[in-house]
Amino acid sequence: MILITGASRGIGKFLFDKFTGFGENVYGTYFSENSVYSQNKKYFRLDVTDYGNAEEIIRALTPEINRFVLINCAGNNYNSFAHKSSPDEWEKVIMTNLVGTYHMIRASLPVMREKLYGRIINFSSVVAETGIPGTSAYASSKSGLWGLTRSLAVENAGKGITINNLNLGYFNIGMITEVSAEYQEVVRKKIPSGKFGDPENIFNAVRFICDSEYINGTSIDINGGLF
Ligand SMILES: NC(=O)c1ccc[n+]([C@@H]2O[C@H](COP(=O)([O-])OP(=O)(O)OC[C@H]3O[C@@H](n4cnc5c(N)ncnc54)[C@H](OP(=O)(O)O)[C@@H]3O)[C@@H](O)[C@H]2O)c1
Repeated sequence: MILITGASRGIGKFLFDKFTGFGENVYGTYFSENSVYSQNKKYFRLDVTDYGNAEEIIRALTPEINRFVLINCAGNNYNSFAHKSSPDEWEKVIMTNLVGTYHMIRASLPVMREKLYGRIINFSSVVAETGIPGTSAYASSKSGLWGLTRSLAVENAGKGITINNLNLGYFNIGMITEVSAEYQEVVRKKIPSGKFGDPENIFNAVRFICDSEYINGTSIDINGGLF
């Protein structure tokens, strides 16, 4: 069973459709109220900042869990120079991207440990490494995932569980497609491969991690050579 958070849009939706197409038993989550997914039996409403909500979903899925893959795609962004930023907005990014990822992992680990199998894949970003103005909240949340992943990999490696990150560059899907065409062009020119990534690369990396029992506590850069 595969659970993908943030599966109502962007990369999460892409992965949901791909894995479903390969015949996997996939569940997804959405966040916005009145989402088109609210009537879909394969989707749950989830606010990752609410630990109780994370636990409810894992409890509902537990009877179906044998080999459990958790893909933590839910995320948000806030662009502002820190000296002008809203502390509430800044904190919301940390709560969603870092604490929310922890919430999903915390709720999932007991059943994974019991079944002696788990694959957890988190989504980090090249932005955490490059130092881009206005991204202090996002970069902090994404670099925090590296420490979280390393520590949890060590805690759970003896139980057949692996936890890894994908450090994404810029893809022609999701967040980056929502910024202005001018800014997209500025970003694209910095990418050595000269283009935004095809999300198929992300799907291939997720499958590779799922198939590997010995890749653990690490990050795979998928960025077209951009560092
Ligand atoms: N796209 C890229 O090029 C890129 C690059 C680097 C890293 N990433 C990372 O990859 C992941 C997916 O990115 P994306 O571009 O596909 O994102 P996206 O298109 O902005 O989609 C974000 C998803 O997260 C959900 N979400 C937002 N707040 C939530 C909350 N509090 N609780 C639960 N779900 C919430 C949204 O639900 P609703 O639709 O209901 O609002 C949506 O499904 C993110 O972690 C992002 O930081 C993406």
